Amino acid sequence: MIDKRMDFPMLKNDIIYFDNGATTFKPDVVIDAIDDYYKNYSANAHRGDYSISYKVDVLYESARKKVANFINANFDEVIFTSGTTDSLNMIAEGFFKNILEENDEVLLTKSEHASNVLPWFKLARELNVKIKYIDLDDNLHVTMDNVKKAITNKTKVISIAGITNVVGDERPIDDICKFAHANDIFVVIDGAQLVPHKKVDVKKSDIDFLAFSGHKMCGPTGIGVLYGKREFLENLEPVRLGGGMNESFDNEYEVYLKDLPLRLEAGTPNIAGALGLAKAIDYLTNIGMDNISEHEKKLKSYMIDKLIKLPFVDIINLESDSGIISFNIDGIFSQDVAFYLSKYNICVRAGNHCAKILKSKTGVKNSIRVSLYFYNTYEEIDKFISLISDKEKILKEMI
Ligand code: ALA
Repeated sequence: MIDKRMDFPMLKNDIIYFDNGATTFKPDVVIDAIDDYYKNYSANAHRGDYSISYKVDVLYESARKKVANFINANFDEVIFTSGTTDSLNMIAEGFFKNILEENDEVLLTKSEHASNVLPWFKLARELNVKIKYIDLDDNLHVTMDNVKKAITNKTKVISIAGITNVVGDERPIDDICKFAHANDIFVVIDGAQLVPHKKVDVKKSDIDFLAFSGHKMCGPTGIGVLYGKREFLENLEPVRLGGGMNESFDNEYEVYLKDLPLRLEAGTPNIAGALGLAKAIDYLTNIGMDNISEHEKKLKSYMIDKLIKLPFVDIINLESDSGIISFNIDGIFSQDVAFYLSKYNICVRAGNHCAKILKSKTGVKNSIRVSLYFYNTYEEIDKFISLISDKEKILKEMI
């Protein structure tokens, strides 16, 4: 049991929040840090020669160091972005667009989120590179055997989620990186559903690029991270140009760029977001990432054990490795179930969850998704199960 519920203003609203894969609630320390910045030292970063601006510079760069320590990166390998989507687009557009050639192959899986599919589709159209998919096993997991089978001498990149947002499976990242690097293949990890829930060490895992979002880990919306090994970031062409990222330019179109990391952060950065994210990282570190993943797994097993007893419930991901459980109720549209639960102030997500090609593997287009976080409790699950257990009641009340 992780007793932190009093830290979250949103949890004082008698709400059962099971949509943490979409975004998480924020503790007071994060909200206070943002409030403090806007009320007491609301200057820009890297631009002013006065005391509050200097304070912003110091805190913004110390937020970067905090992120770097959290994932065991060097500080100049951490770029602040607006979120996972932004980071993955920058990786595809700024780095891979310049090195992939016609008929090169990019390996994805059918359970990737749109953010890790569409930027690659764009490159496929523009460069005539090929998108291929690592086969998922019967439990919708990625196995090393299937990774090895999917690789050819044309494979240049494997881009996959660390934990997926519908299946909740955790990928064997360390083994994938090891095998990929032995075959001169880059590995990009979509960490949106991984970094908030599990300790990630980019050096130990030998990840080439990692993307994640602040708002799914108790931080603010609009701030995210792009991690890349320094040698690769040096060759990532800025997708956005402007202030804060150039050293100088002249009339002859000659532009001298700043060093990393500022070169990849054009324009005024999301200062409040970075400061809030730093507080969120302190907060999670204080609880302990191992405690977080352990608690979520226990909650997940508790919920699955109860759901499995209901004959009209079809669980899509019985073998989930995380706090993500996706299921359907026979004969009832997933959105109707979500609407029914909403009447009892229970928040779940329903639909395809942006993983739109997963249906070609599972045959299931839409589902109800529960995604848990460390502040969820067994009592909340009990209430949810009692509402789900009564199919007649759902049918009667859903509209
Ligand atoms: N990517 C987020 C989710 O899976 C929004 O819900």
